[in-house]
Parts: sequence; C-alpha cells; structure tokens
Amino acid sequence: MSNSVLSAIADRRSIRAYKAQQITKEQLDALLAAAVQSPSARNAQPWHFSVVQNAALLGEINQEVSKNLDRDAGDIFHAAPTVLFLSCDPAGRWARLDCGIAAQNIALAAHSLGLGSVILGMPDAAFTGPRSEYFNKLLKFPEGHSFAVAIAVGFPAGTKEAHPVEPDRISYIS
Ligand SMILES: Cc1cc2nc3c(=O)[nH]c(=O)nc-3n(C[C@H](O)[C@H](O)[C@H](O)COP(=O)(O)O)c2cc1C
Repeated sequence: MSNSVLSAIADRRSIRAYKAQQITKEQLDALLAAAVQSPSARNAQPWHFSVVQNAALLGEINQEVSKNLDRDAGDIFHAAPTVLFLSCDPAGRWARLDCGIAAQNIALAAHSLGLGSVILGMPDAAFTGPRSEYFNKLLKFPEGHSFAVAIAVGFPAGTKEAHPVEPDRISYIS
C-alpha cells in the first residue's frame, strides 16, 4: 500500500548534516501548526515549544551538555539552524509521551516540506544539571515544566539509510 502519508513515514530519516540556510517563517509556522495538532491524552496539550534559531545560544546549551556529561559531546545539534525544545510538566502521566508524539508530527511535517530533522534527547543533560534553573528560564519553559525532547530542523545536507527493522518486535495474539 502507498500514499503520501505512508511514503512520508517510510522516507523520513534522522538527518545529522544541515545547510547553513535558515528555514523560512512559513516553514516554521507549518511545523508549529503540525505540532499543536498532535493528539494528547485527555486533550491536555501539555507541551510548550521553545524555538531557538540563535547559534550562540545553541552553543551555550551544547557546552553545558558536554560539561555535565564530563566529556566532549560533539555538536549535539548537528549544525541545524533551528531547534525546537519541547517541555512539559513531568507530573502529567502522559505528558512526555504527548511531547514525543508532537515531535514526530514535526518530523513528518518537516519531511513533507523537504526539510530534514532529528529528534534529540541529548540536550537533556543541560536541563538536568546544576544550572537547570538557568537553562529552563533561558528557554522560557513555563513554571513547573522541564525538558521533554528537542527536534533539530533545517535543509538537509546529507541523508542516510533507513534503520534496519527488528523482525521480532510484533506479536500477533489470537
Ligand atoms: C527520543 C529520541 C531521542 C533521540 N535522541 C537523539 C540524539 O540526542 N541525537 C541524535 O543524533 N539522534 C537522536 N535520536 C535519533 C535516533 O538515533 C534515530 O531515530 C534512530 O537511530 C533511527 O534512525 P531514523 O530516525 O533515521 O530512522 C533520537 C530519537 C528519539 C526518538
């Protein structure tokens, strides 16, 4: 079976190389529209999206990640010109899962627009370390929110193979 949604799901890749060119405002708006149209448990819409297009600020977060991991984490944003940080109140039973679903909506929307993306857990180390308060405020996370996940977006400067699918991850119960 094939249609545009199935093709987007099949063809999306985690992109780890980007052109310097910034995405357009229209593209960013389309990504955010896709994000807020995500389903969420009890329609709580528990997420907040912090859009960062400032390379120096991303560099500061990257440095903090390396510091808190006690190793050079490399370029955790893969030189992407735009990174969306999703935060939520972790007390919500499904809040982080809802954020994950929103991140995938963004990834598929980005792919449909000819953009690349990669979902990122690595930034977590900046938001859970000793300066978490500072970074929460810097990214304007609402009170009580903490980092859930991030997604880097930009014009792709490379691609990759589809990930190998594990054959034993589905059971049919009869
Ligand atoms: C919750 C989550 C966190 C991830 N964190 C990172 C990350 O910090 N850095 C990174 O390069 N890729 C990250 N990835 C991307 C995965 O490595 C990638 O999805 C996986 O290797 C499969 O490749 P594909 O997305 O191209 O199919 C993350 C993906 C998910 C879903």
